Amino acid sequence: MGVFNKLFGSKKKDTENSIKSDFHIVKVLQISKLTKESVKVTFDISNDAAPDFKFIPGQYIDVKLKLDGKEEIRSYSICSGLNEPLSIGIKKVEGGKVSTYINNCLKIGDDLSISIPRGNFKLNDPNKNYVAFAAGSGITPILSIAKEIAQSENGGLDLFYANKTADAIMFLEELHQLQSDKVRIHYSLSQEEKEGFIKGRFSQENIQKVIKNDLSLLKKEGYFICGPEEMIVNAEKVLKEFGVSGDKIHFELFTTPVLMKGNVTIDAILTEFSGISQVKVILDDEEFDFELATDGGTILNEAEAFGVDAPYSCRGGVCCTCKAKVIEGIVKMDANLALTDGEIKDGYVLSCQAHPASEKVVISYDE
Ligand code: FES
Repeated sequence: MGVFNKLFGSKKKDTENSIKSDFHIVKVLQISKLTKESVKVTFDISNDAAPDFKFIPGQYIDVKLKLDGKEEIRSYSICSGLNEPLSIGIKKVEGGKVSTYINNCLKIGDDLSISIPRGNFKLNDPNKNYVAFAAGSGITPILSIAKEIAQSENGGLDLFYANKTADAIMFLEELHQLQSDKVRIHYSLSQEEKEGFIKGRFSQENIQKVIKNDLSLLKKEGYFICGPEEMIVNAEKVLKEFGVSGDKIHFELFTTPVLMKGNVTIDAILTEFSGISQVKVILDDEEFDFELATDGGTILNEAEAFGVDAPYSCRGGVCCTCKAKVIEGIVKMDANLALTDGEIKDGYVLSCQAHPASEKVVISYDE
């Protein structure tokens, strides 16, 4: 999944400052092969830039590359612990330009443009007890979380990690080193039978079995779920059926949402208005006005068509990069898999999911 801040053009003088503050050019310090299809990339962050790269375990950074003359931005979760050099894990995605480039072509010593860390999927208190479900490359942010819990005084983690086959397990060595009374890792394989591994993928039935096997899992203080959408939906559903409250469940989606799209629309504001809305977008103190139908495209798409270099990454309501504040009017979102309830209360929306729902709408990327 993972997600790139101000990718703005050159319409204003202070645009360059925005770029500098959010993206830094850093050197690749190390590239380690994790599996046939994945690598860990470690960055050399200069002392000057180090304060900008402080992160909370669970967060991600954006990587910006120019490939075949086109700028590409992808989000990759941080896998390092707080006391380690900043690293991300990248699994090659079929047809994925950036992940393929990083896996096949990136070299030690190359310069790479990366954003400051971001994201709401994070471990705020390592001194609590947690359960995590991860599948495939979804282990990346969970590894960072696990490292922090392992170092804590009172925290604990039961991590359930699913893969198709044993040779697809990312970070196996680091996970082995973490295995302890504090961090208990349970592996499962869906396409292979192996001693010591649970058999099967994280279907609802298998997650139910895992929980029934150890009901103390239901008494933990937080649940992290990371991986493909179906697994997240399954784990969330089962946890809720067992009585776990939604505010304890945190998830990070590593694919574009399909199943969740319909039922995770948080911003369900009722409005009578339909028709053509007058939209104003504010970016770097510059104002852009255009008209947009309530049943038309998203504010992000229309703003781009109008020449606004608005920030974006996933375009799926997952990453938060396109976050903007509603200054005036009403905006409806198709989906929201990134903003917290607090952010929504404060008036933030994901512009890649936002449609005007009042006669006049003003949103700002500067707030
Ligand atoms: S671009 Fe990722 S949530 Fe909008």
